[in-house]
Amino acid sequence: MSASGTAELVVVSNRGPFSLEPGQNGSFRARPGGGGLAPSLVAALVGTSGATWVAAALSDGDRMGAPAGSIDSGQAGLSLRLVALEPDVLSLAYDVVANAVLWFIYHGLFDTTRRPVFDRRWLEAWEGFRVYNRAFGEAVCEVAAPGAVVLVNDYHLPLVGAMLAAERPDLRTAHFSHTPFASPGELAVLPRGAATELMEGMAGFGACGFHSPRWEGAFRRCVDESGVRLPRTFVARLGPDLARLQEMVASPACSERLASLQDKLGERRVVLRSDRLEPSKNLLRGLRAFDLLLEEHGRWRGSVVHLIRSYASRESLPEYLAYRSEVEHLAALVNERWATKDYEPVIVDVEDDFAGTAAALCVYDVLLVNPLRDGMNLVAKEGPALNARDGMLVLSEQAGAFDELGHEAFGVNPFDICETADALHQALVLEGTERSERAGRLRALAVAHPPAEWLGAVLSHAVAPAAQLQQLS
Ligand code: F6P
Repeated sequence: MSASGTAELVVVSNRGPFSLEPGQNGSFRARPGGGGLAPSLVAALVGTSGATWVAAALSDGDRMGAPAGSIDSGQAGLSLRLVALEPDVLSLAYDVVANAVLWFIYHGLFDTTRRPVFDRRWLEAWEGFRVYNRAFGEAVCEVAAPGAVVLVNDYHLPLVGAMLAAERPDLRTAHFSHTPFASPGELAVLPRGAATELMEGMAGFGACGFHSPRWEGAFRRCVDESGVRLPRTFVARLGPDLARLQEMVASPACSERLASLQDKLGERRVVLRSDRLEPSKNLLRGLRAFDLLLEEHGRWRGSVVHLIRSYASRESLPEYLAYRSEVEHLAALVNERWATKDYEPVIVDVEDDFAGTAAALCVYDVLLVNPLRDGMNLVAKEGPALNARDGMLVLSEQAGAFDELGHEAFGVNPFDICETADALHQALVLEGTERSERAGRLRALAVAHPPAEWLGAVLSHAVAPAAQLQQLS
């Protein structure tokens, strides 16, 4: 494929940082999207000359704007190239393969006595996944200048590596996984052909990066077992975009949320969780641990609230809908057990509202981050970065962020609700300078790796696959 594009840097992900809205005279305005990792990376990209972000056209505005090709995002130097896919293809790739299978495998979520089952329909979905990956690969080929650097993000797009290696060997490519990676045994659940294609696709990148040496090690073991060539691998640390968070905290919207939160909570202490409402985040055991905390420590009844700010996500998947209703049901049971006329122990808020989240992060006493497994978990860093109440962190040992924050957090095995309840208690009772110094150390660790540093590290590893072969020989 010819190299006719002009972008010196191409960032690729399923969900982009902006969503398009039609403006006047056939023009489009790029509006910042919601939470997630993409918006934090924009600040790092702005100003890097000639960068283009390739993402799926997800909203109606996106689909209208996609045929226009690269669109100026309005943020200095950053263009958008949206990939319009047939709705069927998008659903097969995003829902059926990426989210219902790869996400579950990488996070160890399957109860394998029942799921997954791979049938003919799933093999058709895998074909949709190929078409989807190919469409992204073609968009990259179209926008990338000769010798450009290409950074592909996440488990939706593993096959792009092999395609670019074959069709644009001039490009310096890297893939970054914001998820964990599976062990060889977990990956072996996939149909053999799909597993091989996935590993060959990843091996086509010049380099593959991860948030933690644990996921890097798992990937290297899978490469080993699948017999494909080992690409360069690396770990790069990522912290929150502090300026963006602080700007939000200073906004009138955030002050308004803060006031209504303080109204609702009064003098009560707050155990907060803030995540997407999804199975790997482990909300159910979090609720059970909170219930146990109230059962075992009467002093917290009436004086501590569990605030769950978990916005609904991926509701096209039945697993997510079922999980949400289980969470709501369990929250209602805990409330039934401990509520009094003026005390609601669990408050669930599923609205995706960044201002409300920022406000809650400022005022928690304990932040509960207990995923079953997580690539990194940015909330574990955003919380300490913003909190103004010497809040403590109860953190799952299975989150990539535990590598960096673990020694200042209250570490827990996310499956163990006794240990989690105990950690919540310890985190609530810690007082005085011990508490404030610990919060200070957490804060320093949380902001240690701004997005620009992460981006610089990742890009420094991007290499043309052929160059990598020369280095290896
Ligand atoms: O954590 C992995 C990840 O792909 C992030 O990079 C991203 O923020 C999020 O999950 C995307 O989720 P969604 O399915 O809502 O796009």
